[in-house]
Amino acid sequence: MQVPSPIQQALDHGLPDVLAVGIVKDAQGKHNPITLSWIMQTSRMPPMLAISVAPSRHSFDALHKAKQFVIAYPAAGQEEETVLYGTASGRNMDKLARGGTRVVPATKIDSVLMVDALANFECEVVGEFVTGDHSIFVGKIVAAHVNKDPNVRRIYAFGYVDYAPVERGE
Ligand SMILES: Cc1cc2nc3c(=O)[nH]c(=O)nc-3n(C[C@H](O)[C@H](O)[C@H](O)COP(=O)(O)O)c2cc1C
Repeated sequence: MQVPSPIQQALDHGLPDVLAVGIVKDAQGKHNPITLSWIMQTSRMPPMLAISVAPSRHSFDALHKAKQFVIAYPAAGQEEETVLYGTASGRNMDKLARGGTRVVPATKIDSVLMVDALANFECEVVGEFVTGDHSIFVGKIVAAHVNKDPNVRRIYAFGYVDYAPVERGE
């Protein structure tokens, strides 16, 4: 049986939520990470990823300038840095350095990959849509990388700062 609910309460009802880290080079030349839940694949061929980012984020201006971003799926063990990237702004902080995240240069765009993540996707922005209090940036995936350790587990958001891998039910 369904009962009426306040809209936002219903939208928040279905935890866990997807968890990703976007990395965008900012105007100072710093690679800035931002924790994102609003992300989805929108096309298989060509492969496309869309992210939704609020204008108040430092990453928003950086996206307009760089027109490129990396999406990393953080792995178990990266909970603390992922909280930092979602709760502090890179406006006055080098978040990657503060978080202690190991990075290597991306291969096709001017960005960096998270070495210990489950996977990384290099994207070029091909479109932007204002959707209310966020804007969707559509990225064409131009390169992808996966962790060669098959035991690495992806983490999901069970709350704003509560992350964990998801166990498959028996
Ligand atoms: C679990 C989680 C998910 C988030 N998802 C988004 C999102 O999809 N879009 C967004 O604009 N902000 C999202 N945020 C908020 C940003 O990560 C946060 O405001 C961050 O500090 C912005 O960093 P910046 O100013 O360096 O860009 C999320 C935060 C958390 C903790």
